[in-house]
Amino acid sequence: MVEISSILQGGYAHPLSREWQGKRALTKSMFMYPLFITDDPDAHVVIPSLPGQCRWGVNKLQEFVGPLVQKGLKSVILFGVPLTCEKDARGTPADDANGPVILAIKKLRSLFPDLFIAVDVCLCEYTSHGHCGVLNDDGTINTPPSVARLAEVSVAYAQAGAHCVAPSDMMDGRIKAIKQGLIDSGLANKCLLMSYSAKFASALYGPFRDAAGSAPSFGNRKCYQLPPQAKGLARRAIKRDVNEGADIIMVKPGLPYLDIIADAAELAADFPLAVYQVSGEYAMVVAGANAGVYDLKTMAFETTESLVRAGATLILSYFTPQFLDWLEA
Ligand code: PBG
Ligand code: ZN
Repeated sequence: MVEISSILQGGYAHPLSREWQGKRALTKSMFMYPLFITDDPDAHVVIPSLPGQCRWGVNKLQEFVGPLVQKGLKSVILFGVPLTCEKDARGTPADDANGPVILAIKKLRSLFPDLFIAVDVCLCEYTSHGHCGVLNDDGTINTPPSVARLAEVSVAYAQAGAHCVAPSDMMDGRIKAIKQGLIDSGLANKCLLMSYSAKFASALYGPFRDAAGSAPSFGNRKCYQLPPQAKGLARRAIKRDVNEGADIIMVKPGLPYLDIIADAAELAADFPLAVYQVSGEYAMVVAGANAGVYDLKTMAFETTESLVRAGATLILSYFTPQFLDWLEA
């Protein structure tokens, strides 16, 4: 005699009944695509460490992004990769009106009026030392000027037309300062503030640092990015950023931090929850598929659906172009 309560398989025997088992399904609008914008306006340069991804010049955005928008791309997040600029201690090129990011914001706004344009805010791509903030003489982070500078850069991006500024630096107090900067410049009601709140110091950022030329010239980022074992700090950072005025909370990386995603879904239940499936996660999935360990599409779905199951409502992913092909609507 089989116990009635022991039978589960009848509930998911059909492909459609399997789909119903998720609380939320992946949709195209959940994906935000990271774009690397460099200062050569005609650049279309392959990034070896990030298979299939390129650095783009502003003149190439129409031909690259246009077909993706046609397929249902709804949002992008821009990263500046300045190669010819003069980097300095305060990251002066970050808000250069003729720098690649500000030019790309304007270009994308005019080419694709319905595309949501987020911009990563950080100084590491623009500082001579490659750290994400301004430093004291002894090489430690000097928080007040770092935060002031990040707010200044955020306002410049918002003024250029960014729908969202997303600070990834992890300096204490920057959400509050950026929100205040947006308020003071009259942009707070137009520009979304997405905080990389629970951003862990991770080996999975390696390919990105290659792509963006943003590896620190000395030391590491462990005094500002969170220690991987720090669940408590992550929870405190999420609560802090909620209180400082963030509109979206992010957890990063994704796959090794599913418990933090679940915590964020509970701690910031009234907010959209973004998860960054970072460069190393992407490279790992691709490398495994190339080595014959698993099928690429199956693994891309499994890893991404795990993020959604844990609580993500928005996913920053290098797989975005593929998902636009793989997903129905
Ligand atoms: C800049 C920044 C990084 C990433 C996003 N913004 C690198 C870092 O903090 O070292 C990582 C993104 C990725 O790996 O895909 N601060
Ligand atoms: Zn940085």
